[in-house]
Amino acid sequence: CGIVGYIGPKPAAPILISGLKKLEYRGYDSAGIAVIEDSHIKITKSVGKIANLEEKLSGVILNATTGIGHTRWATHGKPSDENAHPHLDCTGKFAVVHNGIIENYLDLKEELMAEGHTFRSETDTEVLAHLLEKYYAGDLLEAVIKLQKRLHGSYAAAFLALEEPGRIVAVRKDSPLIVGLGDGENFLASDIPAILNHTRKTYILQDGEIAELTANTVKVYDMGGNPVAKEIYEVTWNAEEAEKGGYAHFMQKEIFEQPKALRDTLAGRLDAENLEVKLPEIEENLEFYKSLNRIFISACGTAYHAGLVGKYLLEKLVRIPVEVDVASEFRYRDPLIGRNDLLVVISQSGETADTLAALREAKKRGARVLAVTNVVGSSVSREADDVIYTWAGPEIAVASTKAYTTQLLVMYLFALYLGRVKGTIDEKLYKEMVFGLKEIPQKVQEVLEAEDKVIEFAKKHLNKEDAFFIGRGLDFAVSLEGQLKLKEISYIHAEAYAAGELKHGTLALIVKDVPVIALATQEALFEKMLSNIKEVNAREATILGIAFAGKKEIAKVTDEQIYLPRVPELLAPILAVVPLQLLAYHMAVLRGNDVDKPRNLAKSVTVE
Ligand code: G6P
Repeated sequence: CGIVGYIGPKPAAPILISGLKKLEYRGYDSAGIAVIEDSHIKITKSVGKIANLEEKLSGVILNATTGIGHTRWATHGKPSDENAHPHLDCTGKFAVVHNGIIENYLDLKEELMAEGHTFRSETDTEVLAHLLEKYYAGDLLEAVIKLQKRLHGSYAAAFLALEEPGRIVAVRKDSPLIVGLGDGENFLASDIPAILNHTRKTYILQDGEIAELTANTVKVYDMGGNPVAKEIYEVTWNAEEAEKGGYAHFMQKEIFEQPKALRDTLAGRLDAENLEVKLPEIEENLEFYKSLNRIFISACGTAYHAGLVGKYLLEKLVRIPVEVDVASEFRYRDPLIGRNDLLVVISQSGETADTLAALREAKKRGARVLAVTNVVGSSVSREADDVIYTWAGPEIAVASTKAYTTQLLVMYLFALYLGRVKGTIDEKLYKEMVFGLKEIPQKVQEVLEAEDKVIEFAKKHLNKEDAFFIGRGLDFAVSLEGQLKLKEISYIHAEAYAAGELKHGTLALIVKDVPVIALATQEALFEKMLSNIKEVNAREATILGIAFAGKKEIAKVTDEQIYLPRVPELLAPILAVVPLQLLAYHMAVLRGNDVDKPRNLAKSVTVE
């Protein structure tokens, strides 16, 4: 999760520790440092808080002036001392810290083990240390250039070689890494806050670039080892702005991180070329999954809304009946769940008490439990039979955004996988969906460009007391998430309505100038949706329409429109929710609310 590095005349350890502390706000589960001391690489690491690491270091005098450090947010392997970074190779001569995911680590691990390397951790990172040992022939830079060519995935990594104590080499691809330029000393960090106390002059590394640091020089190379001329980027942010990566709030940062979070969650799970969805988490118990009777989904808040989309997908693509409950209801309704049934629990934190209780209830009744969670080693992940992780990275804002879209993504992968093995999914649709998913991070990036339009709409309605979200089918499930987001942080009362149900009641509340957000992404329901929009239009509501590009009809019945780039329509929720997140966010900002910490709401609710 966080990388720091130091090389210069001062003892490295305290600088590394203070750098890691500046990254603590991002969340982590273990921390560690490596320095070159007395002709060996000395590693100190510990699960838990940085204070635990400091305790291990207390009384130890380290004079080393070169070192790398890391705070870990577990992806491969639970949080533990062994899995904490830095990692060493077998000879103890090479150390590495890494952020991101090495997608082909299992293949690399197999290759290296066949060549006699022994592994000590469950991490994907450790392959980097062994690969370095394999390729090292006296020049760290050369070895890292060779090593990088073997990697698939996203990474920012820093390397030390015992034989070259005056040098740190680092690489990045799809994971941030910067070099801080000092006077007779240089720094490395995944994020700007880690170096702000020392320097404001930086090189921002680009994908595929390799940085070579000594105390007095920093050189940057491309993947082929050719020198790259870098411009110095002078950081003008204050510490608080730096924590948020230049965004005004964590929520905004996390909304904009969604393309990356989606890319990471897809990593290694989608092989579009071979039309394959890979879920080894399920494959191990394939017999059960192939023969299961019914699926239940249980979760709270935003995760529950991801479950509603999940139900739709699973019923459509796997043709299995699915029931969805909010977790606090599930266990008290004496659910008809038993052997041959699956309960899917969805939880960002993996610690929500209601969700855990639902999980335990289902297990007691003999069902199998699959957890979808963002936190490796969380209670839910430990107690479930199977776990599929979302790799959204730490989510700090209380209102969930990137966790939700990655939960949706896992629902798609799961439904496609199961539909394929059970033979219930039409081959043409399967293909379309696989290619659609591959493109989804990029498409979300495009939707983010609608921010200005959303701000305009938010400005017009910021003093409203009520808002409505309407949609049919998948659009209704997304409407529910949109209204929750708006209520949670802007404190505007909002309601989501299945558009066809409006006429059975709530239409009385649609009066002049009430904002209505109308989602119309589903082709088969489009005409029906247009009629429903006309109903609210006739009552002079102000309508924001959300539809795919090219659906010009929507402009005739709405006041403003946001057009989504084309994707297979089953994938629309991942795109359609983005403007709704942005709307909630900007409404809250304009109303002067504490966006990241809304009143009366906790990020993780551990009471029932
Ligand atoms: C709390 C949070 C919500 C979240 C829900 C479920 O109520 O405020 O934003 O959706 O818990 O959290 P989980 O960690 O289980 O996904």
